[in-house]
Amino acid sequence: MALESAICPHLQKQRTQEKSTPANYEPGFPLFSARFDPAMEEMAAVLIGAIASQPGRLEYDALEPVDKLLQQGSPRPHYAVLCSSEDPTGRETRAWKAYWRRKEDYLSWSHSSGFDTWWKDEKRQMDDDQGWILEALFPTMDRFEAVFSSQDAREGASLMCQGMSDAIEEHGYWGSARDRLPIGQVDAVRGEKCNAETAKGSRVVVPGRKNLCVIHSGQDWSAVEGKERSLYLDTLHPTLEAGMRFLSNDKYPDTTREHFGCFDCRFMSHLDPETLEPSLSKTFGLCYFDDLANLERWSKEHKTHLNIFNGFFKYATDTQGKGNLSLWHEVTVLEKDQQYFEYVNCPAGTGMLPL
Ligand code: HEM
Repeated sequence: MALESAICPHLQKQRTQEKSTPANYEPGFPLFSARFDPAMEEMAAVLIGAIASQPGRLEYDALEPVDKLLQQGSPRPHYAVLCSSEDPTGRETRAWKAYWRRKEDYLSWSHSSGFDTWWKDEKRQMDDDQGWILEALFPTMDRFEAVFSSQDAREGASLMCQGMSDAIEEHGYWGSARDRLPIGQVDAVRGEKCNAETAKGSRVVVPGRKNLCVIHSGQDWSAVEGKERSLYLDTLHPTLEAGMRFLSNDKYPDTTREHFGCFDCRFMSHLDPETLEPSLSKTFGLCYFDDLANLERWSKEHKTHLNIFNGFFKYATDTQGKGNLSLWHEVTVLEKDQQYFEYVNCPAGTGMLPL
């Protein structure tokens, strides 16, 4: 079957940056890319959440003000998912990750719902029980790529897409994520080195960074049953947890996440909004890197991703390529003014907040 380019036709350009696709290449398995309406120029992917001030879980109603605000104002998010993670000290972060079609739409919602006023209110700083997190990304579509292991799957920003490509060419070799990014055709998207700054105060805005690289890598095993489910949960999932622990700042004798330019990683589970339990069999890693080249280096060189990668091929072999595990990821490389990070009463090291 003829392969398509991962890059939407309307974003294809004469390359000045070389592709890494090997000559006469045919990937060993299919992957598919989300296709967006050419009229869609950008999006807003916004995480609004709370973090516990002590190790342990947040109160059941910790996010209630945000739950309510998301039901008000206009336009409401196109899609929002409730998710939770635990930081290395055992504190829960619980958040909504919400998507709008345009930055302007997010700003209109923020204003019309009252979120803006609520967020800026100094009462947020007075609240000792929990910290508040706002992480907003506004990539233009040339700075975004999303791939899926199944043509029928839709998650994250791709719930706003028009459809899915046929099988794509640019995957299954190192450097393929860069080849799928439209901006990667004409720009090496070099980032700024991850350096330690100190943050002061109970309300901190972290300035944007040139070409900050964000990966949202999702796993959905809700349709995986029986032996296949145990195969995923007992073999592949533990390697993923180890990789996410490393990027969340687990100490390794030979290296650290800083060596790979990683600012932060949350390994998040989708929550049932009623019970707040992670019972939906869906997770994602949400990680911030100083440079796409460093994310590439971690995935290609570090044993934690290599273990995940090899685990995937074992799972694929054992399920004879017919497994129901659904995998997807979004990678975006942002301009300084396409990011907004603000933290209220958050412990050092939360998200983009320096350690
Ligand atoms: C690439 C497996 C989780 C980062 C890949 C590829 C596989 C794979 C098979 C090659 C895909 C292709 O291009 O055809 C998995 C599995 C995961 C997982 C099974 C979870 C169960 C993650 C996570 C991250 C990540 C959580 C980052 C936080 C990457 C990156 C690439 C990649 C950046 C592209 C490398 C490049 O373009 O050179 N992964 N991965 N992966 N993975 Fe993972």
